[in-house]
Amino acid sequence: MDTEEESPGLPLSPKTETGCAKGGMLCIVVGLELDKLTVTVITDNYYDALRPDFKIAERYKMKPKTSIYNMNLHAEHGLACCIETVVDGKPHSFMFDFGVDFQGVSKNMELLNIDFKMFEALALSHGHFDHWGALIALVKSQSEKVPKGIPLYVGEEVFSERFVNFPSGLVSLEFLNRENVESLGLVKVAETKEPFAIIPGAYFSGRIERVTEYEKVPPIFLVQRGDKKEHDMFIGEQALFLNMKGKGLVVLSGCAHSGIVNTVKHAQKMTGIEKVHAVLGGFHLTGAKPEIIQRTVADIKAINPDYIVPMHCTGYEAITTFEKEMPNQFIINTVGTRYLFTA
Ligand SMILES: [Fe+2]
Ligand SMILES: [Fe+2]
Repeated sequence: MDTEEESPGLPLSPKTETGCAKGGMLCIVVGLELDKLTVTVITDNYYDALRPDFKIAERYKMKPKTSIYNMNLHAEHGLACCIETVVDGKPHSFMFDFGVDFQGVSKNMELLNIDFKMFEALALSHGHFDHWGALIALVKSQSEKVPKGIPLYVGEEVFSERFVNFPSGLVSLEFLNRENVESLGLVKVAETKEPFAIIPGAYFSGRIERVTEYEKVPPIFLVQRGDKKEHDMFIGEQALFLNMKGKGLVVLSGCAHSGIVNTVKHAQKMTGIEKVHAVLGGFHLTGAKPEIIQRTVADIKAINPDYIVPMHCTGYEAITTFEKEMPNQFIINTVGTRYLFTA
């Protein structure tokens, strides 16, 4: 951990060790198995108010609170999730990513009965606005409920300005201002390069090793370093790794700019657990060449998770390819869905 003061975070569980070397990298020995895991999608790119429950996916049910205008969830180009675990009979929870639009995300949290009071930590996958946009306004608006000194876990370079170099011109995606976060006096920023337990049984990935030949970050993604704009390889991007008792790994990605196959293989390597129960999150394949989509889907199919839930920036073509190639494992995501994993 790299913090200005002593790490405010939870210590690694006594049942969890880091420090075993695998190819020169740290690995996690996951002794902590989850009895229960709930992933609630607070915001995402797609919302379908009428979609029925399906397998582990419990859908949000509309109930008018004050009027018909206050029962629909908000969808956007963004991602925010609430992660709740039960380990050794004890519940824990944190928020993973924060979406973009404060009004929409806060309304969704209210309709989904998700309260800041419940969180032990906040965690941000990477420095793109669609994951941190609503963060400061949310924390500010919930200042009475945010546990004071709550850690905000981030990877490297999360506060750097990002750009996309579109054919039509360079677009700034702005940056999360660390001073603005810290000056709220509510949140303590903790940066990590290594795998780290956010709450018992839920791990930040650390730097994700790139092993596939085809999962490359397109050169249009840039990051500001000093006075230079350099190709952004998202070295600090963090995914979540969890281990369901008797079921295997659950991997949740923010955008998977590092490649979703790289991310899952990294989870297997870091934990020493081969069996993958579920892969969820943004896989960043929107606009990708058909060959890249085919190779990604083929490799995930070979890993053979019990569930595949592509969200957010995965894109229509990749989502429908997963559905076609993995029909028994595929679940379409919609905003407000609760994924219920049990041992
Ligand atoms: Fe994203
Ligand atoms: Fe992103």
